[in-house]
Amino acid sequence: MRQFTEENLTEEVVTRLKQTKDKRLREIMTSAVKHLHAFAREAHLTEEEWFEGIKFLTSVGQKCDGKRQEFILLSDVLGLSMMVVALNHKTAPGATEATVLGPFFAHGAKEFDYGGDLREGATMSGEDVWVSGRVLSVDGKPIPGATLDIWQAKADGIYDLQTEGEFELRGRVKANAKGKYAFASYKPKFYSIPMDGPVGDLVRATGNRHMRPAHMHAIVAAPGYQQVITHVFVDGDPYLDGDAVFAVKNSLVGKYKKVNDDAEAKKLGLSNPFVKLTWDFRLSPDKVGAKKARKKIAASDAVA
Ligand code: BEZ
Ligand code: FE
Repeated sequence: MRQFTEENLTEEVVTRLKQTKDKRLREIMTSAVKHLHAFAREAHLTEEEWFEGIKFLTSVGQKCDGKRQEFILLSDVLGLSMMVVALNHKTAPGATEATVLGPFFAHGAKEFDYGGDLREGATMSGEDVWVSGRVLSVDGKPIPGATLDIWQAKADGIYDLQTEGEFELRGRVKANAKGKYAFASYKPKFYSIPMDGPVGDLVRATGNRHMRPAHMHAIVAAPGYQQVITHVFVDGDPYLDGDAVFAVKNSLVGKYKKVNDDAEAKKLGLSNPFVKLTWDFRLSPDKVGAKKARKKIAASDAVA
């Protein structure tokens, strides 16, 4: 067949895709082509505009390197990352809700036992925080030996991966045999997503939001349970209602309580006064969803 028109072109591309052996790839490509063509039609896309789009996507790719993932950032600000999370994590009642991974997760952080100090080697100080709690199953039973991958921005809102320095304010925290975990860190602060690349240009051009409410990230995993990629946000943060990447859930907002107690600060190795977050994570029993979550991390590793 030849002589394609606005009316029959989509159908022909979809027909050619029918020979794709991998069924899932065929489904995904068919849907993508249909929606991309519909988008071009609906927006009456001109050649100049599409070329601008191609130049934009090229610069997004060129901005990526071993530490910077501009495509994840693009997916996040378009709400696509949260849409994919929502579609794939119909959390069991009571389980900790999932949110975006974001572009700043890194494998290989240092391991810490109960009570570890994530401030070790920090180049910038902040407000001392003691974070502690339990890793539980949805029915409230403690899960022994869970691992919590924790990461957060420094006091200036910049992640270690955005600098030339070493890992900072991140660690793999091991819960103890009773499912309890604890670590020292700095209270997270709100920050801007990276605005020095093409995604920042797009956010500015569309007058969109660029701030993230203060949070720490956690990936909590234990044998026999579904891993959860999540955040804990700071209650009272001014950006909770305007997160640049749509990741806030009411169930993930934690209360950071002020403590003024010299003896306790000394015992915990913190300066007085300090803040305390008590936070339990609740995991659903393992099933097919757990495999998918592991694949997601493996995929992020492959692009890093
Ligand atoms: C983050 O929280 O680290 C993050 C998530 C999405 C975009 C930018 C940063
Ligand atoms: Fe973050």
